[in-house]
Amino acid sequence: MKLKMLIVVLFVLVTGLSFAAPHLAQGQKMPGDDVVIPSVDEKWGPTKFTHQQHLAFSDCTYCHHTNKGLTLESFNAGKSERIPLCAECHLRKEGDPKTPKGADGTELWSKEAYHINCIDCHKGEITKVPKDAGAIKKQGEGPTKCAACHEVKE
Ligand code: HEC
Ligand code: HEC
Ligand code: HEC
Ligand code: HEC
Repeated sequence: MKLKMLIVVLFVLVTGLSFAAPHLAQGQKMPGDDVVIPSVDEKWGPTKFTHQQHLAFSDCTYCHHTNKGLTLESFNAGKSERIPLCAECHLRKEGDPKTPKGADGTELWSKEAYHINCIDCHKGEITKVPKDAGAIKKQGEGPTKCAACHEVKE
């Protein structure tokens, strides 16, 4: 009898704990083919990004470089940590002291961080890689013209 009680108590504790773990990506969905990254610029509007097409070109962690060990499998199994938006760290305002700096001192506000990530790979000229970032599998042959990525506001 006592043993049964102990098992029940342990079960409740363990499930309760896993529900209470806020760092797990519970409820976070893999975006579909229509991620729209917002913009606050007056001319260069929001950008579209397609996960499905990009998964063959690099590890998740080349882009989500602070989510150590993130893979499609770990994500689908609900085992990955919450994936923050790039702009939670690479802030949207130029000159904010909380914005991280690159190895060469460049202020990595959102435009810089995204342009280095997206455009350098599309050009096949990747030289700046975050610390501990995952592998690149293909670079070059992606769009590099402003209007190919941005909706242009008139
Ligand atoms: C490969 C895609 C791509 C190309 C090509 C590109 N950009 Fe961007 N750009 C982005 C992404 C992604 C962001 C971050 C999200 C956003 O702000 O739209 C961004 C951000 C910006 C921002 C900051 C907007 C904000 O709200 O902070 C400006 C301004 C900008 N780009 C201008 C340009 C100009 C000018 C060109 C051409 C010389 C260009 N971009 C080419 C993808 C691209
Ligand atoms: C080529 C870069 C790139 C790769 C590779 C990539 N992502 Fe993303 N992912 C992004 C961008 C950009 C966003 C939009 C983030 C933003 O707006 O700041 C995003 C958003 C997400 C979001 C939504 C976050 C939210 O709260 O809306 C999830 C979940 C996600 N990615 C999971 C993954 C997983 C899992 C993998 C690997 C199987 C992966 N991504 C591979 C660039 C990438
Ligand atoms: C690791 C390399 C790599 C990174 C990082 C990367 N791309 Fe690409 N992207 C590619 C390649 C390669 C292609 C060409 C695909 C093809 O033609 O099959 C491409 C194609 C595209 C296209 C055109 C295809 C379409 O869906 O219409 C867009 C738009 C695009 N990328 C946006 C982005 C944005 C926005 C980012 C940054 C958030 C980004 N990419 C980051 C490699 C990359
Ligand atoms: C939790 C905070 C955080 C998040 C989220 C984050 N970054 Fe970063 N990023 C940093 C920090 C800090 C650095 C500087 C140290 C380093 O290289 O790792 C950096 C560096 C970079 C660099 C290297 C630039 C250079 O000059 O060395 C690129 C490119 C980059 N981030 C793009 C992205 C993109 C794209 C996303 C979203 C898919 C993203 N980051 C999400 C914190 C973050």
